[in-house]
Amino acid sequence: MAIEPLLDADDIQGHIIPGYADADLRLLAIRGADDVALKALIRVLIESPLGVTNMRSAFGLRSARKLFLQGVGPEPDDPLRLNLALTRQGLDRLGFAALSGVDRAFDAGMTGLSTGDPKQPLRADGSLEPAHPSNWVIGSASQPFDLLIILACKRNIRDRTTDVADLVREASGISVIYEEFGEDLPNNTEHFGFVDGISTPGIYGEFEESDRKVPITTRYGVPSANGLDFGKPGQPLVWPGRFLVGAPSFEGDEGEIVNEIFKNGSFLVFRRLRQDVAAFYEDTDKMAVKLADKLGAPKINGTLLRETIVGRRQNGQPLMRPGEGPDSPLSINHFFYANATPSINLNNGEQVTGTTPDVRGQRCPFWAHIRKVNPRDGQNDLPEEAQNLQMLRRGIAFGRSYDRQLPADDAKNLEPRGLLFLAYQREIGDQFEELNTHWMNQFEVPAGGGHDLLVGLTLSDDGRLAPRRADWPSSQEQLETPRTWVFPTGGAYLFAPSLSGLKLLI
Ligand code: HEM
Repeated sequence: MAIEPLLDADDIQGHIIPGYADADLRLLAIRGADDVALKALIRVLIESPLGVTNMRSAFGLRSARKLFLQGVGPEPDDPLRLNLALTRQGLDRLGFAALSGVDRAFDAGMTGLSTGDPKQPLRADGSLEPAHPSNWVIGSASQPFDLLIILACKRNIRDRTTDVADLVREASGISVIYEEFGEDLPNNTEHFGFVDGISTPGIYGEFEESDRKVPITTRYGVPSANGLDFGKPGQPLVWPGRFLVGAPSFEGDEGEIVNEIFKNGSFLVFRRLRQDVAAFYEDTDKMAVKLADKLGAPKINGTLLRETIVGRRQNGQPLMRPGEGPDSPLSINHFFYANATPSINLNNGEQVTGTTPDVRGQRCPFWAHIRKVNPRDGQNDLPEEAQNLQMLRRGIAFGRSYDRQLPADDAKNLEPRGLLFLAYQREIGDQFEELNTHWMNQFEVPAGGGHDLLVGLTLSDDGRLAPRRADWPSSQEQLETPRTWVFPTGGAYLFAPSLSGLKLLI
């Protein structure tokens, strides 16, 4: 096991590490009239009794909640949490235009080119293309903003954040140009009905607490394998320098020297992704009937096709693990693709059964969402880097659930819904853009055989959204999606400074 770096728990924002898995969010995107107005607002927020939530208090809360869930502690309070991130425009407005070059993609901003979003603002029939950046509800050149305020708590987010939202709205020279709530759906699912938030990288490192050192990622005694150490089974440890500016990126690394404003900060990708639930179910049901007919395989149905597209069953059980699941939270992510995964005994006494490999993508195809974005040990075109591309995903659903008992054109079902995709990393170009644009949107990579049918976007020659394709495992049959079920309607590249970085900025 590597020698662990020490992280500054008082300085790093708590939404980056460890994140707020159990909390709902309120997002406010702000534009300041000038540097004075923006600085004044940031000052009010960081100096308010609420203050910016750091890693230490987020860990304290998480540990207290764990004890409560184990029945050995009282129910912890549910404090309101506050975090902040700036766009490139926001940094420039504060007078730091010269501070560039720390992350190339952040400096360039989220452009259609870097994300593979449609190039045409109109569809072929002349109607508006909502996925084109000029039609987004937030972000892009048409709706730029300076600062993203992230408020979080477990219960009553709407009522409990009213005062802060009012304070922001009433601040002089400040416009709130976008506001949205992210609220957990039942059983941690996303709008298509699949459990989300299962697989997330672990982080090497410790922080000091009352004279002892606490690991950032709990170790469960998983033996090292394929050159990787693990926290939970299936949770490889990654160096903190892949998420935090200036932190070590390999054993013995002292971290890069950067301006203090960037140190201990992290780059945040925000994508407001709308999900068309009716189209997803309607199209996959039809595609499955066609495929079953062609292959003479009546077992293929909409449910199986949807699970194959995700790579997990709705309850989170990966197609790579035997049984319908769900396996226990500690077993559910224990699998590789190219190598067999051994049965192991964890240090808490739990036994985790192993899995056999799937080198050719017959159980979980190369194009399944989870295999596209994390090929683990499997074949891929960036084998040295694959593990280091992962991000700290902090996404949450927005909008009310789709009601399948009501007609698709019922007013409730027509409301917008989707995922507020939020993910922290060190290099947007080498992490988010590799997964999103290089892998999800393309047929051939990481391992060939199909686009990411769930989330990937492909464009036709004229820059409009086009059907995506994938080869059904062990057959010549090709699937083609008639429509896109997930499409961006907003987003931005941001930088979440450390608490000391925020003070330097104002
Ligand atoms: C509305 C859009 C999306 C939906 C519905 C969705 C859904 C899911 C689901 C159900 C899982 C399995 C649960 C888990 O392993 O945590 C998952 C995993 C994952 N998704 Fe997405 N996702 C979306 C967008 C994205 C985007 C834009 C990216 C990155 C570019 C992404 C990256 C990942 C990653 C890295 C994993 C974990 C894979 C693993 O380690 O096995 N997702 N997603």
